[in-house]
Amino acid sequence: MTTILVTGGAGFIGSNLVKYMLNEYKDYKIINLDLLTYAGNLENLSDLEDTENYKFIKGDITDRELMTRLFSENQIDQVIHLAAESHVDRSITDPEIFIKTNVLGTQVLLDCAKSAWTTGKDEWGYPTFIEGAKFLFVSTDEVYGELGKEGLFTEVTPIAPNSPYATSKASADLLVRAYNKTYKMPVNITRCSNNYGPYQFPEKLIPLMISNAIDHKTLPVYGDGMQIRDWLHVKDHCSAICTVLRAGKDGEVYNIGGNNEKANIDVVKLILSALGKSENLITYVTDRLGHDRRYAIDNTKITNELGWKPSCTFEEGITETIEWYINNANWLKKVRSGEYMNYYTRMYGSREVLNG
Ligand code: NAD
Ligand code: TYD
Repeated sequence: MTTILVTGGAGFIGSNLVKYMLNEYKDYKIINLDLLTYAGNLENLSDLEDTENYKFIKGDITDRELMTRLFSENQIDQVIHLAAESHVDRSITDPEIFIKTNVLGTQVLLDCAKSAWTTGKDEWGYPTFIEGAKFLFVSTDEVYGELGKEGLFTEVTPIAPNSPYATSKASADLLVRAYNKTYKMPVNITRCSNNYGPYQFPEKLIPLMISNAIDHKTLPVYGDGMQIRDWLHVKDHCSAICTVLRAGKDGEVYNIGGNNEKANIDVVKLILSALGKSENLITYVTDRLGHDRRYAIDNTKITNELGWKPSCTFEEGITETIEWYINNANWLKKVRSGEYMNYYTRMYGSREVLNG
């Protein structure tokens, strides 16, 4: 049995990942550590309450004392680190928490894992680590900045993040690299494109547009809506993370993407059409500051070296996702109550409507 600490396991990708891993593999015990911020929701995991190989702990990755205790009280073999502040728009209005959680939190975890896993020193003074240890950092393609009309991000594309969110992730990503280069700590870094699927908080494009369309509210498209993202279903991200965890070469970075480039406006129109709603709901609003124009991933490395590829097309995935939000109206209603409405007014109330 391998004990894996998953951080951020009550969020969108984390909750999908925890369920995916417990379903697919019988040799994992999972400890899910999550602070339950606005983005963390234990309801995402309610069907796991009685699962033997699973334990939830509420806590903050920046709390060094708690993280040290977590490693000393549990024999953690591997870490999959997802906990983060994850929304670009929030990072534009409040960057500080992104630095605290994403950068300092990652450093605390790296330190605690390194201490817990060190068995001694080799002849050159490098630490030696317990057999099978691995720290997998879930990074993002946004660390590469933006692309022009042509080209794809590869693992050697220079790091050039533009938003405070992307910069905090890039800083963490480089710290993980540094722990590998300096201490030879066994790490992997995955840089994935935009995810969509069940349990995504409706502040991100796809769930926000689906839920507004269901409620017959306007759909706020930033700028001209021609920004391009490379969409990947969350279940394919989960399978890619597990592939890297099990087969990734120590110290390596792997890009993960869906080969699925779409302009935002086309995604929005597809959602409206699938829900039988009018395109009159589309409202063009003031653009995001520093809005990256295009992201697109070159998957060659993970496909050729580890045999992973995405399993579902965007058309299949988005249909299934829309159905999930329709069938889980209660989940949506709960996460959109209270603080969410304040957020919505703060974020969208002040945006100028550009199309009358
Ligand atoms: P999310 O915002 O849905 O979930 C983040 C989780 O982290 C939440 O459960 C939250 O409670 C928890 N958390 C936040 N601060 C914490 C802290 N201090 N201590 C412990 N837990 C804390 O995010 P997501 O979309 O599921 O993304 C997960 C990871 O994947 C992030 O690291 C993100 O950068 C990365 N990623 C996301 C995407 C995407 O499209 N969503 C794409 C590539 C990479
Ligand atoms: P988002 O889901 O926030 O992901 P990211 O910024 O990390 O790529 O946004 C995806 C794209 O959708 C991005 O180009 C911004 C755009 N967008 C809108 O046009 N309107 C919205 O209300 C939101 C949330 C995003």
